[in-house]
Amino acid sequence: MKEKIKFTLNGKAIEFETDTRQILLSVLRTELGLTGTKFGCGVGFCGACTILVDGEAQRSCGMAVSEVAGKKVVTIEGLADGDKLHPVQKAFLHHEAQQCGFCTPGQIMNAVALLKADPKPSRKKIIEGMNGNLCRCGAYNRIIAAIETASKEINGGTKL
Ligand code: FES
Ligand code: FES
Repeated sequence: MKEKIKFTLNGKAIEFETDTRQILLSVLRTELGLTGTKFGCGVGFCGACTILVDGEAQRSCGMAVSEVAGKKVVTIEGLADGDKLHPVQKAFLHHEAQQCGFCTPGQIMNAVALLKADPKPSRKKIIEGMNGNLCRCGAYNRIIAAIETASKEINGGTKL
């Protein structure tokens, strides 16, 4: 049954009618046209669908749309500030931390949440925090290096 839902998406308040039992990932991609968030496994294992909900990394394949009513949702499309990329996005480009790029939006969103919770994580903490985001291309070393670089910039180090 369709009903109205309101939430903030990438900084804009939106209100639309949908079947709110649907999976958020599917609604983002098909009804709202935000295809940056990827469908990988669909069952919470790969992290490709990671978005931010009220600042926390969440798997959008495991949530009904109704769960984000009144919340702040950020997808990869809303991470940059205009044409100013987020430090994590810049660091991924700098380290070429994407190969095919399929896992990249989820990796970046998870890394953003990780650095928000702990702006100076050790390498071990980064590995632990990113453990649930799989990369079939095996770009893990470059992903970790990118997060280390982003952490430096966030903490006042050199800007890329
Ligand atoms: Fe959501 Fe894999 S698509 S965790
Ligand atoms: Fe291809 Fe990660 S860059 S799956």
